[in-house]
Amino acid sequence: MFERLIVTGGCGFIGSNFIRFLRQHRPSIAITNIDCLSYSGNLENLAGLEGDARYRFIKADIGDAGTMKSALAGADAIVHFAAESHVDRSLMDSRPFVQTNVLGTQTLLDAARHARLKRFVHVSTDEVYGSLPLDRPEFRFTEDSPIRPSSPYAASKAASDLLVHAFHHTFGLDAVITRCSNNFGPYQFPEKVIPLFVTNLLEGKQVPLYGDGLNVRDWIHVDDHCEAILAVLERGRAGQVYNIGADNEHSNLDLTHSLLRLMNRGPEFIRHVEDRPGHDRRYAIDSSKIAAELGWRASRSAWPAALEATVAWYTSNATWWRHIRSGEYRSFYDTLYANRPAAMA
Ligand SMILES: NC(=O)c1ccc[n+]([C@@H]2O[C@H](COP(=O)([O-])OP(=O)(O)OC[C@H]3O[C@@H](n4cnc5c(N)ncnc54)[C@H](O)[C@@H]3O)[C@@H](O)[C@H]2O)c1
Repeated sequence: MFERLIVTGGCGFIGSNFIRFLRQHRPSIAITNIDCLSYSGNLENLAGLEGDARYRFIKADIGDAGTMKSALAGADAIVHFAAESHVDRSLMDSRPFVQTNVLGTQTLLDAARHARLKRFVHVSTDEVYGSLPLDRPEFRFTEDSPIRPSSPYAASKAASDLLVHAFHHTFGLDAVITRCSNNFGPYQFPEKVIPLFVTNLLEGKQVPLYGDGLNVRDWIHVDDHCEAILAVLERGRAGQVYNIGADNEHSNLDLTHSLLRLMNRGPEFIRHVEDRPGHDRRYAIDSSKIAAELGWRASRSAWPAALEATVAWYTSNATWWRHIRSGEYRSFYDTLYANRPAAMA
């Protein structure tokens, strides 16, 4: 249906899993991956694709209007993952979040209009809805829940969602927004809680648990998220928002104890640290709209099996995360691309 697809942020955690997912399930689609290789962009996440004739990598910032205009020309559709994505970093400095998530998205929207793309899928987050109380388990975010972001990260994503909505409403751009809960799985940058805790435990280090650890997240396996995005790309209705979740709620304390059990470590490996300022208490997603309209339901996310498989992946891919922890992954680009013709980079 779409033959030429742009993926932004394809060297990050979810983007790289999405490209692999497409290669497996839609092998005929030609993919152009646009990524500036920020600290979380890692070409090793896509090792093996370099020689693929239907895959092209462009190293560029999504805020570069000229490059986006030429990169999008001739494409059918775009799936937009590129973002600054870590809440804690947004508390230290929110400017890169506004720069990439807001201005970068606006630049892409302009380029998409200009290129007359048939579809713009904007990958957003449940964090735009803010926090739910712990004592009302019946509450869940629906697509009609108010937008009440708590962190600068969530606020920048909310702003980008509103821009996408405006471009659809005013200019008729065929755009769809997805809002997913917390992802886990292979290739997640080891600053996020699951890979951070697993790799710390593998190195015999303690894990830093924020506050009382009772904050609840609705965990979804990245492949379930990728499958939902593909469904939205192919069958979602223009102008709509689709929530994506897996009905897999766990507190950070439960998560930590599950990891300790799976990795044969005792509670002495927990180091309680001061809570994150403004830390959202609970996220929970109502995915009934995407289930009813597109027939999608999570099938790979249930714990403990999915968590155990994730621990096993980080255990047997120590070279991958050790390269990140040591900074070596930064040289991968030079190794791969330094002597290639200019058009590749
Ligand atoms: N990780 C989650 O649990 C989760 C949940 C819901 C939604 N999301 C959304 O999914 C998307 C991907 O998240 P992720 O966890 O894979 O993040 P990530 O940090 O692992 O990857 C982000 C990618 O974007 C690239 N990038 C950053 N700024 C760029 C720029 N200015 N120009 C070009 N490329 C740039 C980075 O190099 C990196 O490859 C984000 O939009 C995020 O908001 C993430």
